[in-house]
Amino acid sequence: MYGDHKQTTKSKLNYQFQDAGPQEFLSWALKNYENSIVLANSLSAEDTTILHICSKISKNFRVFILDTGRLHEESLQFLEECRSYYKIPIQIYFPQAEDVEAMVQKKGLFSFYESISNRKECCHIRKVKPLQRALKGANAWITGLRREQSDGRKEIERVEWDEANGGLWKLNPLLSWSWERVLEFVSENKLPFHPLHKKSYPSIGCQPCTRAVKDKEELRSGRWWWESSGNKECGLHEKT
Ligand code: ADX
Ligand code: SF4
Repeated sequence: MYGDHKQTTKSKLNYQFQDAGPQEFLSWALKNYENSIVLANSLSAEDTTILHICSKISKNFRVFILDTGRLHEESLQFLEECRSYYKIPIQIYFPQAEDVEAMVQKKGLFSFYESISNRKECCHIRKVKPLQRALKGANAWITGLRREQSDGRKEIERVEWDEANGGLWKLNPLLSWSWERVLEFVSENKLPFHPLHKKSYPSIGCQPCTRAVKDKEELRSGRWWWESSGNKECGLHEKT
């Protein structure tokens, strides 16, 4: 568990910004962590919303995407669209070649379907380790996490201390927005929109591990759909 000082700062900030909208909160965050704040952009509507808001406030932040090597073709095309639209460099982090090579030599290219531990190993190599490289040197990172996305995310806070990813602040500006509110923002601001969102993918990860959802299904039920466990995460958002 982290120290009392971090706990006090976290409580103070969550209290201070409890009624703040994402614009107000991000204005504070970009100023406070100037040049040491990074936005994790998975190309979801949440992340393009945040990128839009941040780009109107400041240029003193970095943006990155984790390209696992297994993303949909649509995601790669959309990444290029976002790079031209936002006119902000989006850094691309790949997994370490030797890690992927060792895993696929031993277990094949679809080991994630065989067990949860294989799936977590693949996510660790292709997402978590590159994330830790992407966050090096940063004091804060911004994510598009929302409470509505799953039961496991109901308790997230606007400001969290992320010990698991090296010890830095984690900021979740859209935590209380609904999916409808996100869609409204994207449409009001005419933002680029991931083509798979239009095909009933409210949550988009890697191609072999994501599928479309039906109307009444949970937003993240298309992720690792073959796993029965309720709390499906890839390890980027470990609780500490
Ligand atoms: S995941 O952990 O299951 O993949 P999800 O797709 O819901 O998470 O995304 C939640 C947030 O994690 C995104 O809004 C983004 O901030 C970050 N994130 C997830 N995947 C990526 C990625 N490939 N590249 C960069 N950030 C990502
Ligand atoms: Fe591997 Fe699937 Fe995780 Fe992507 S989502 S890193 S393909 S297990």
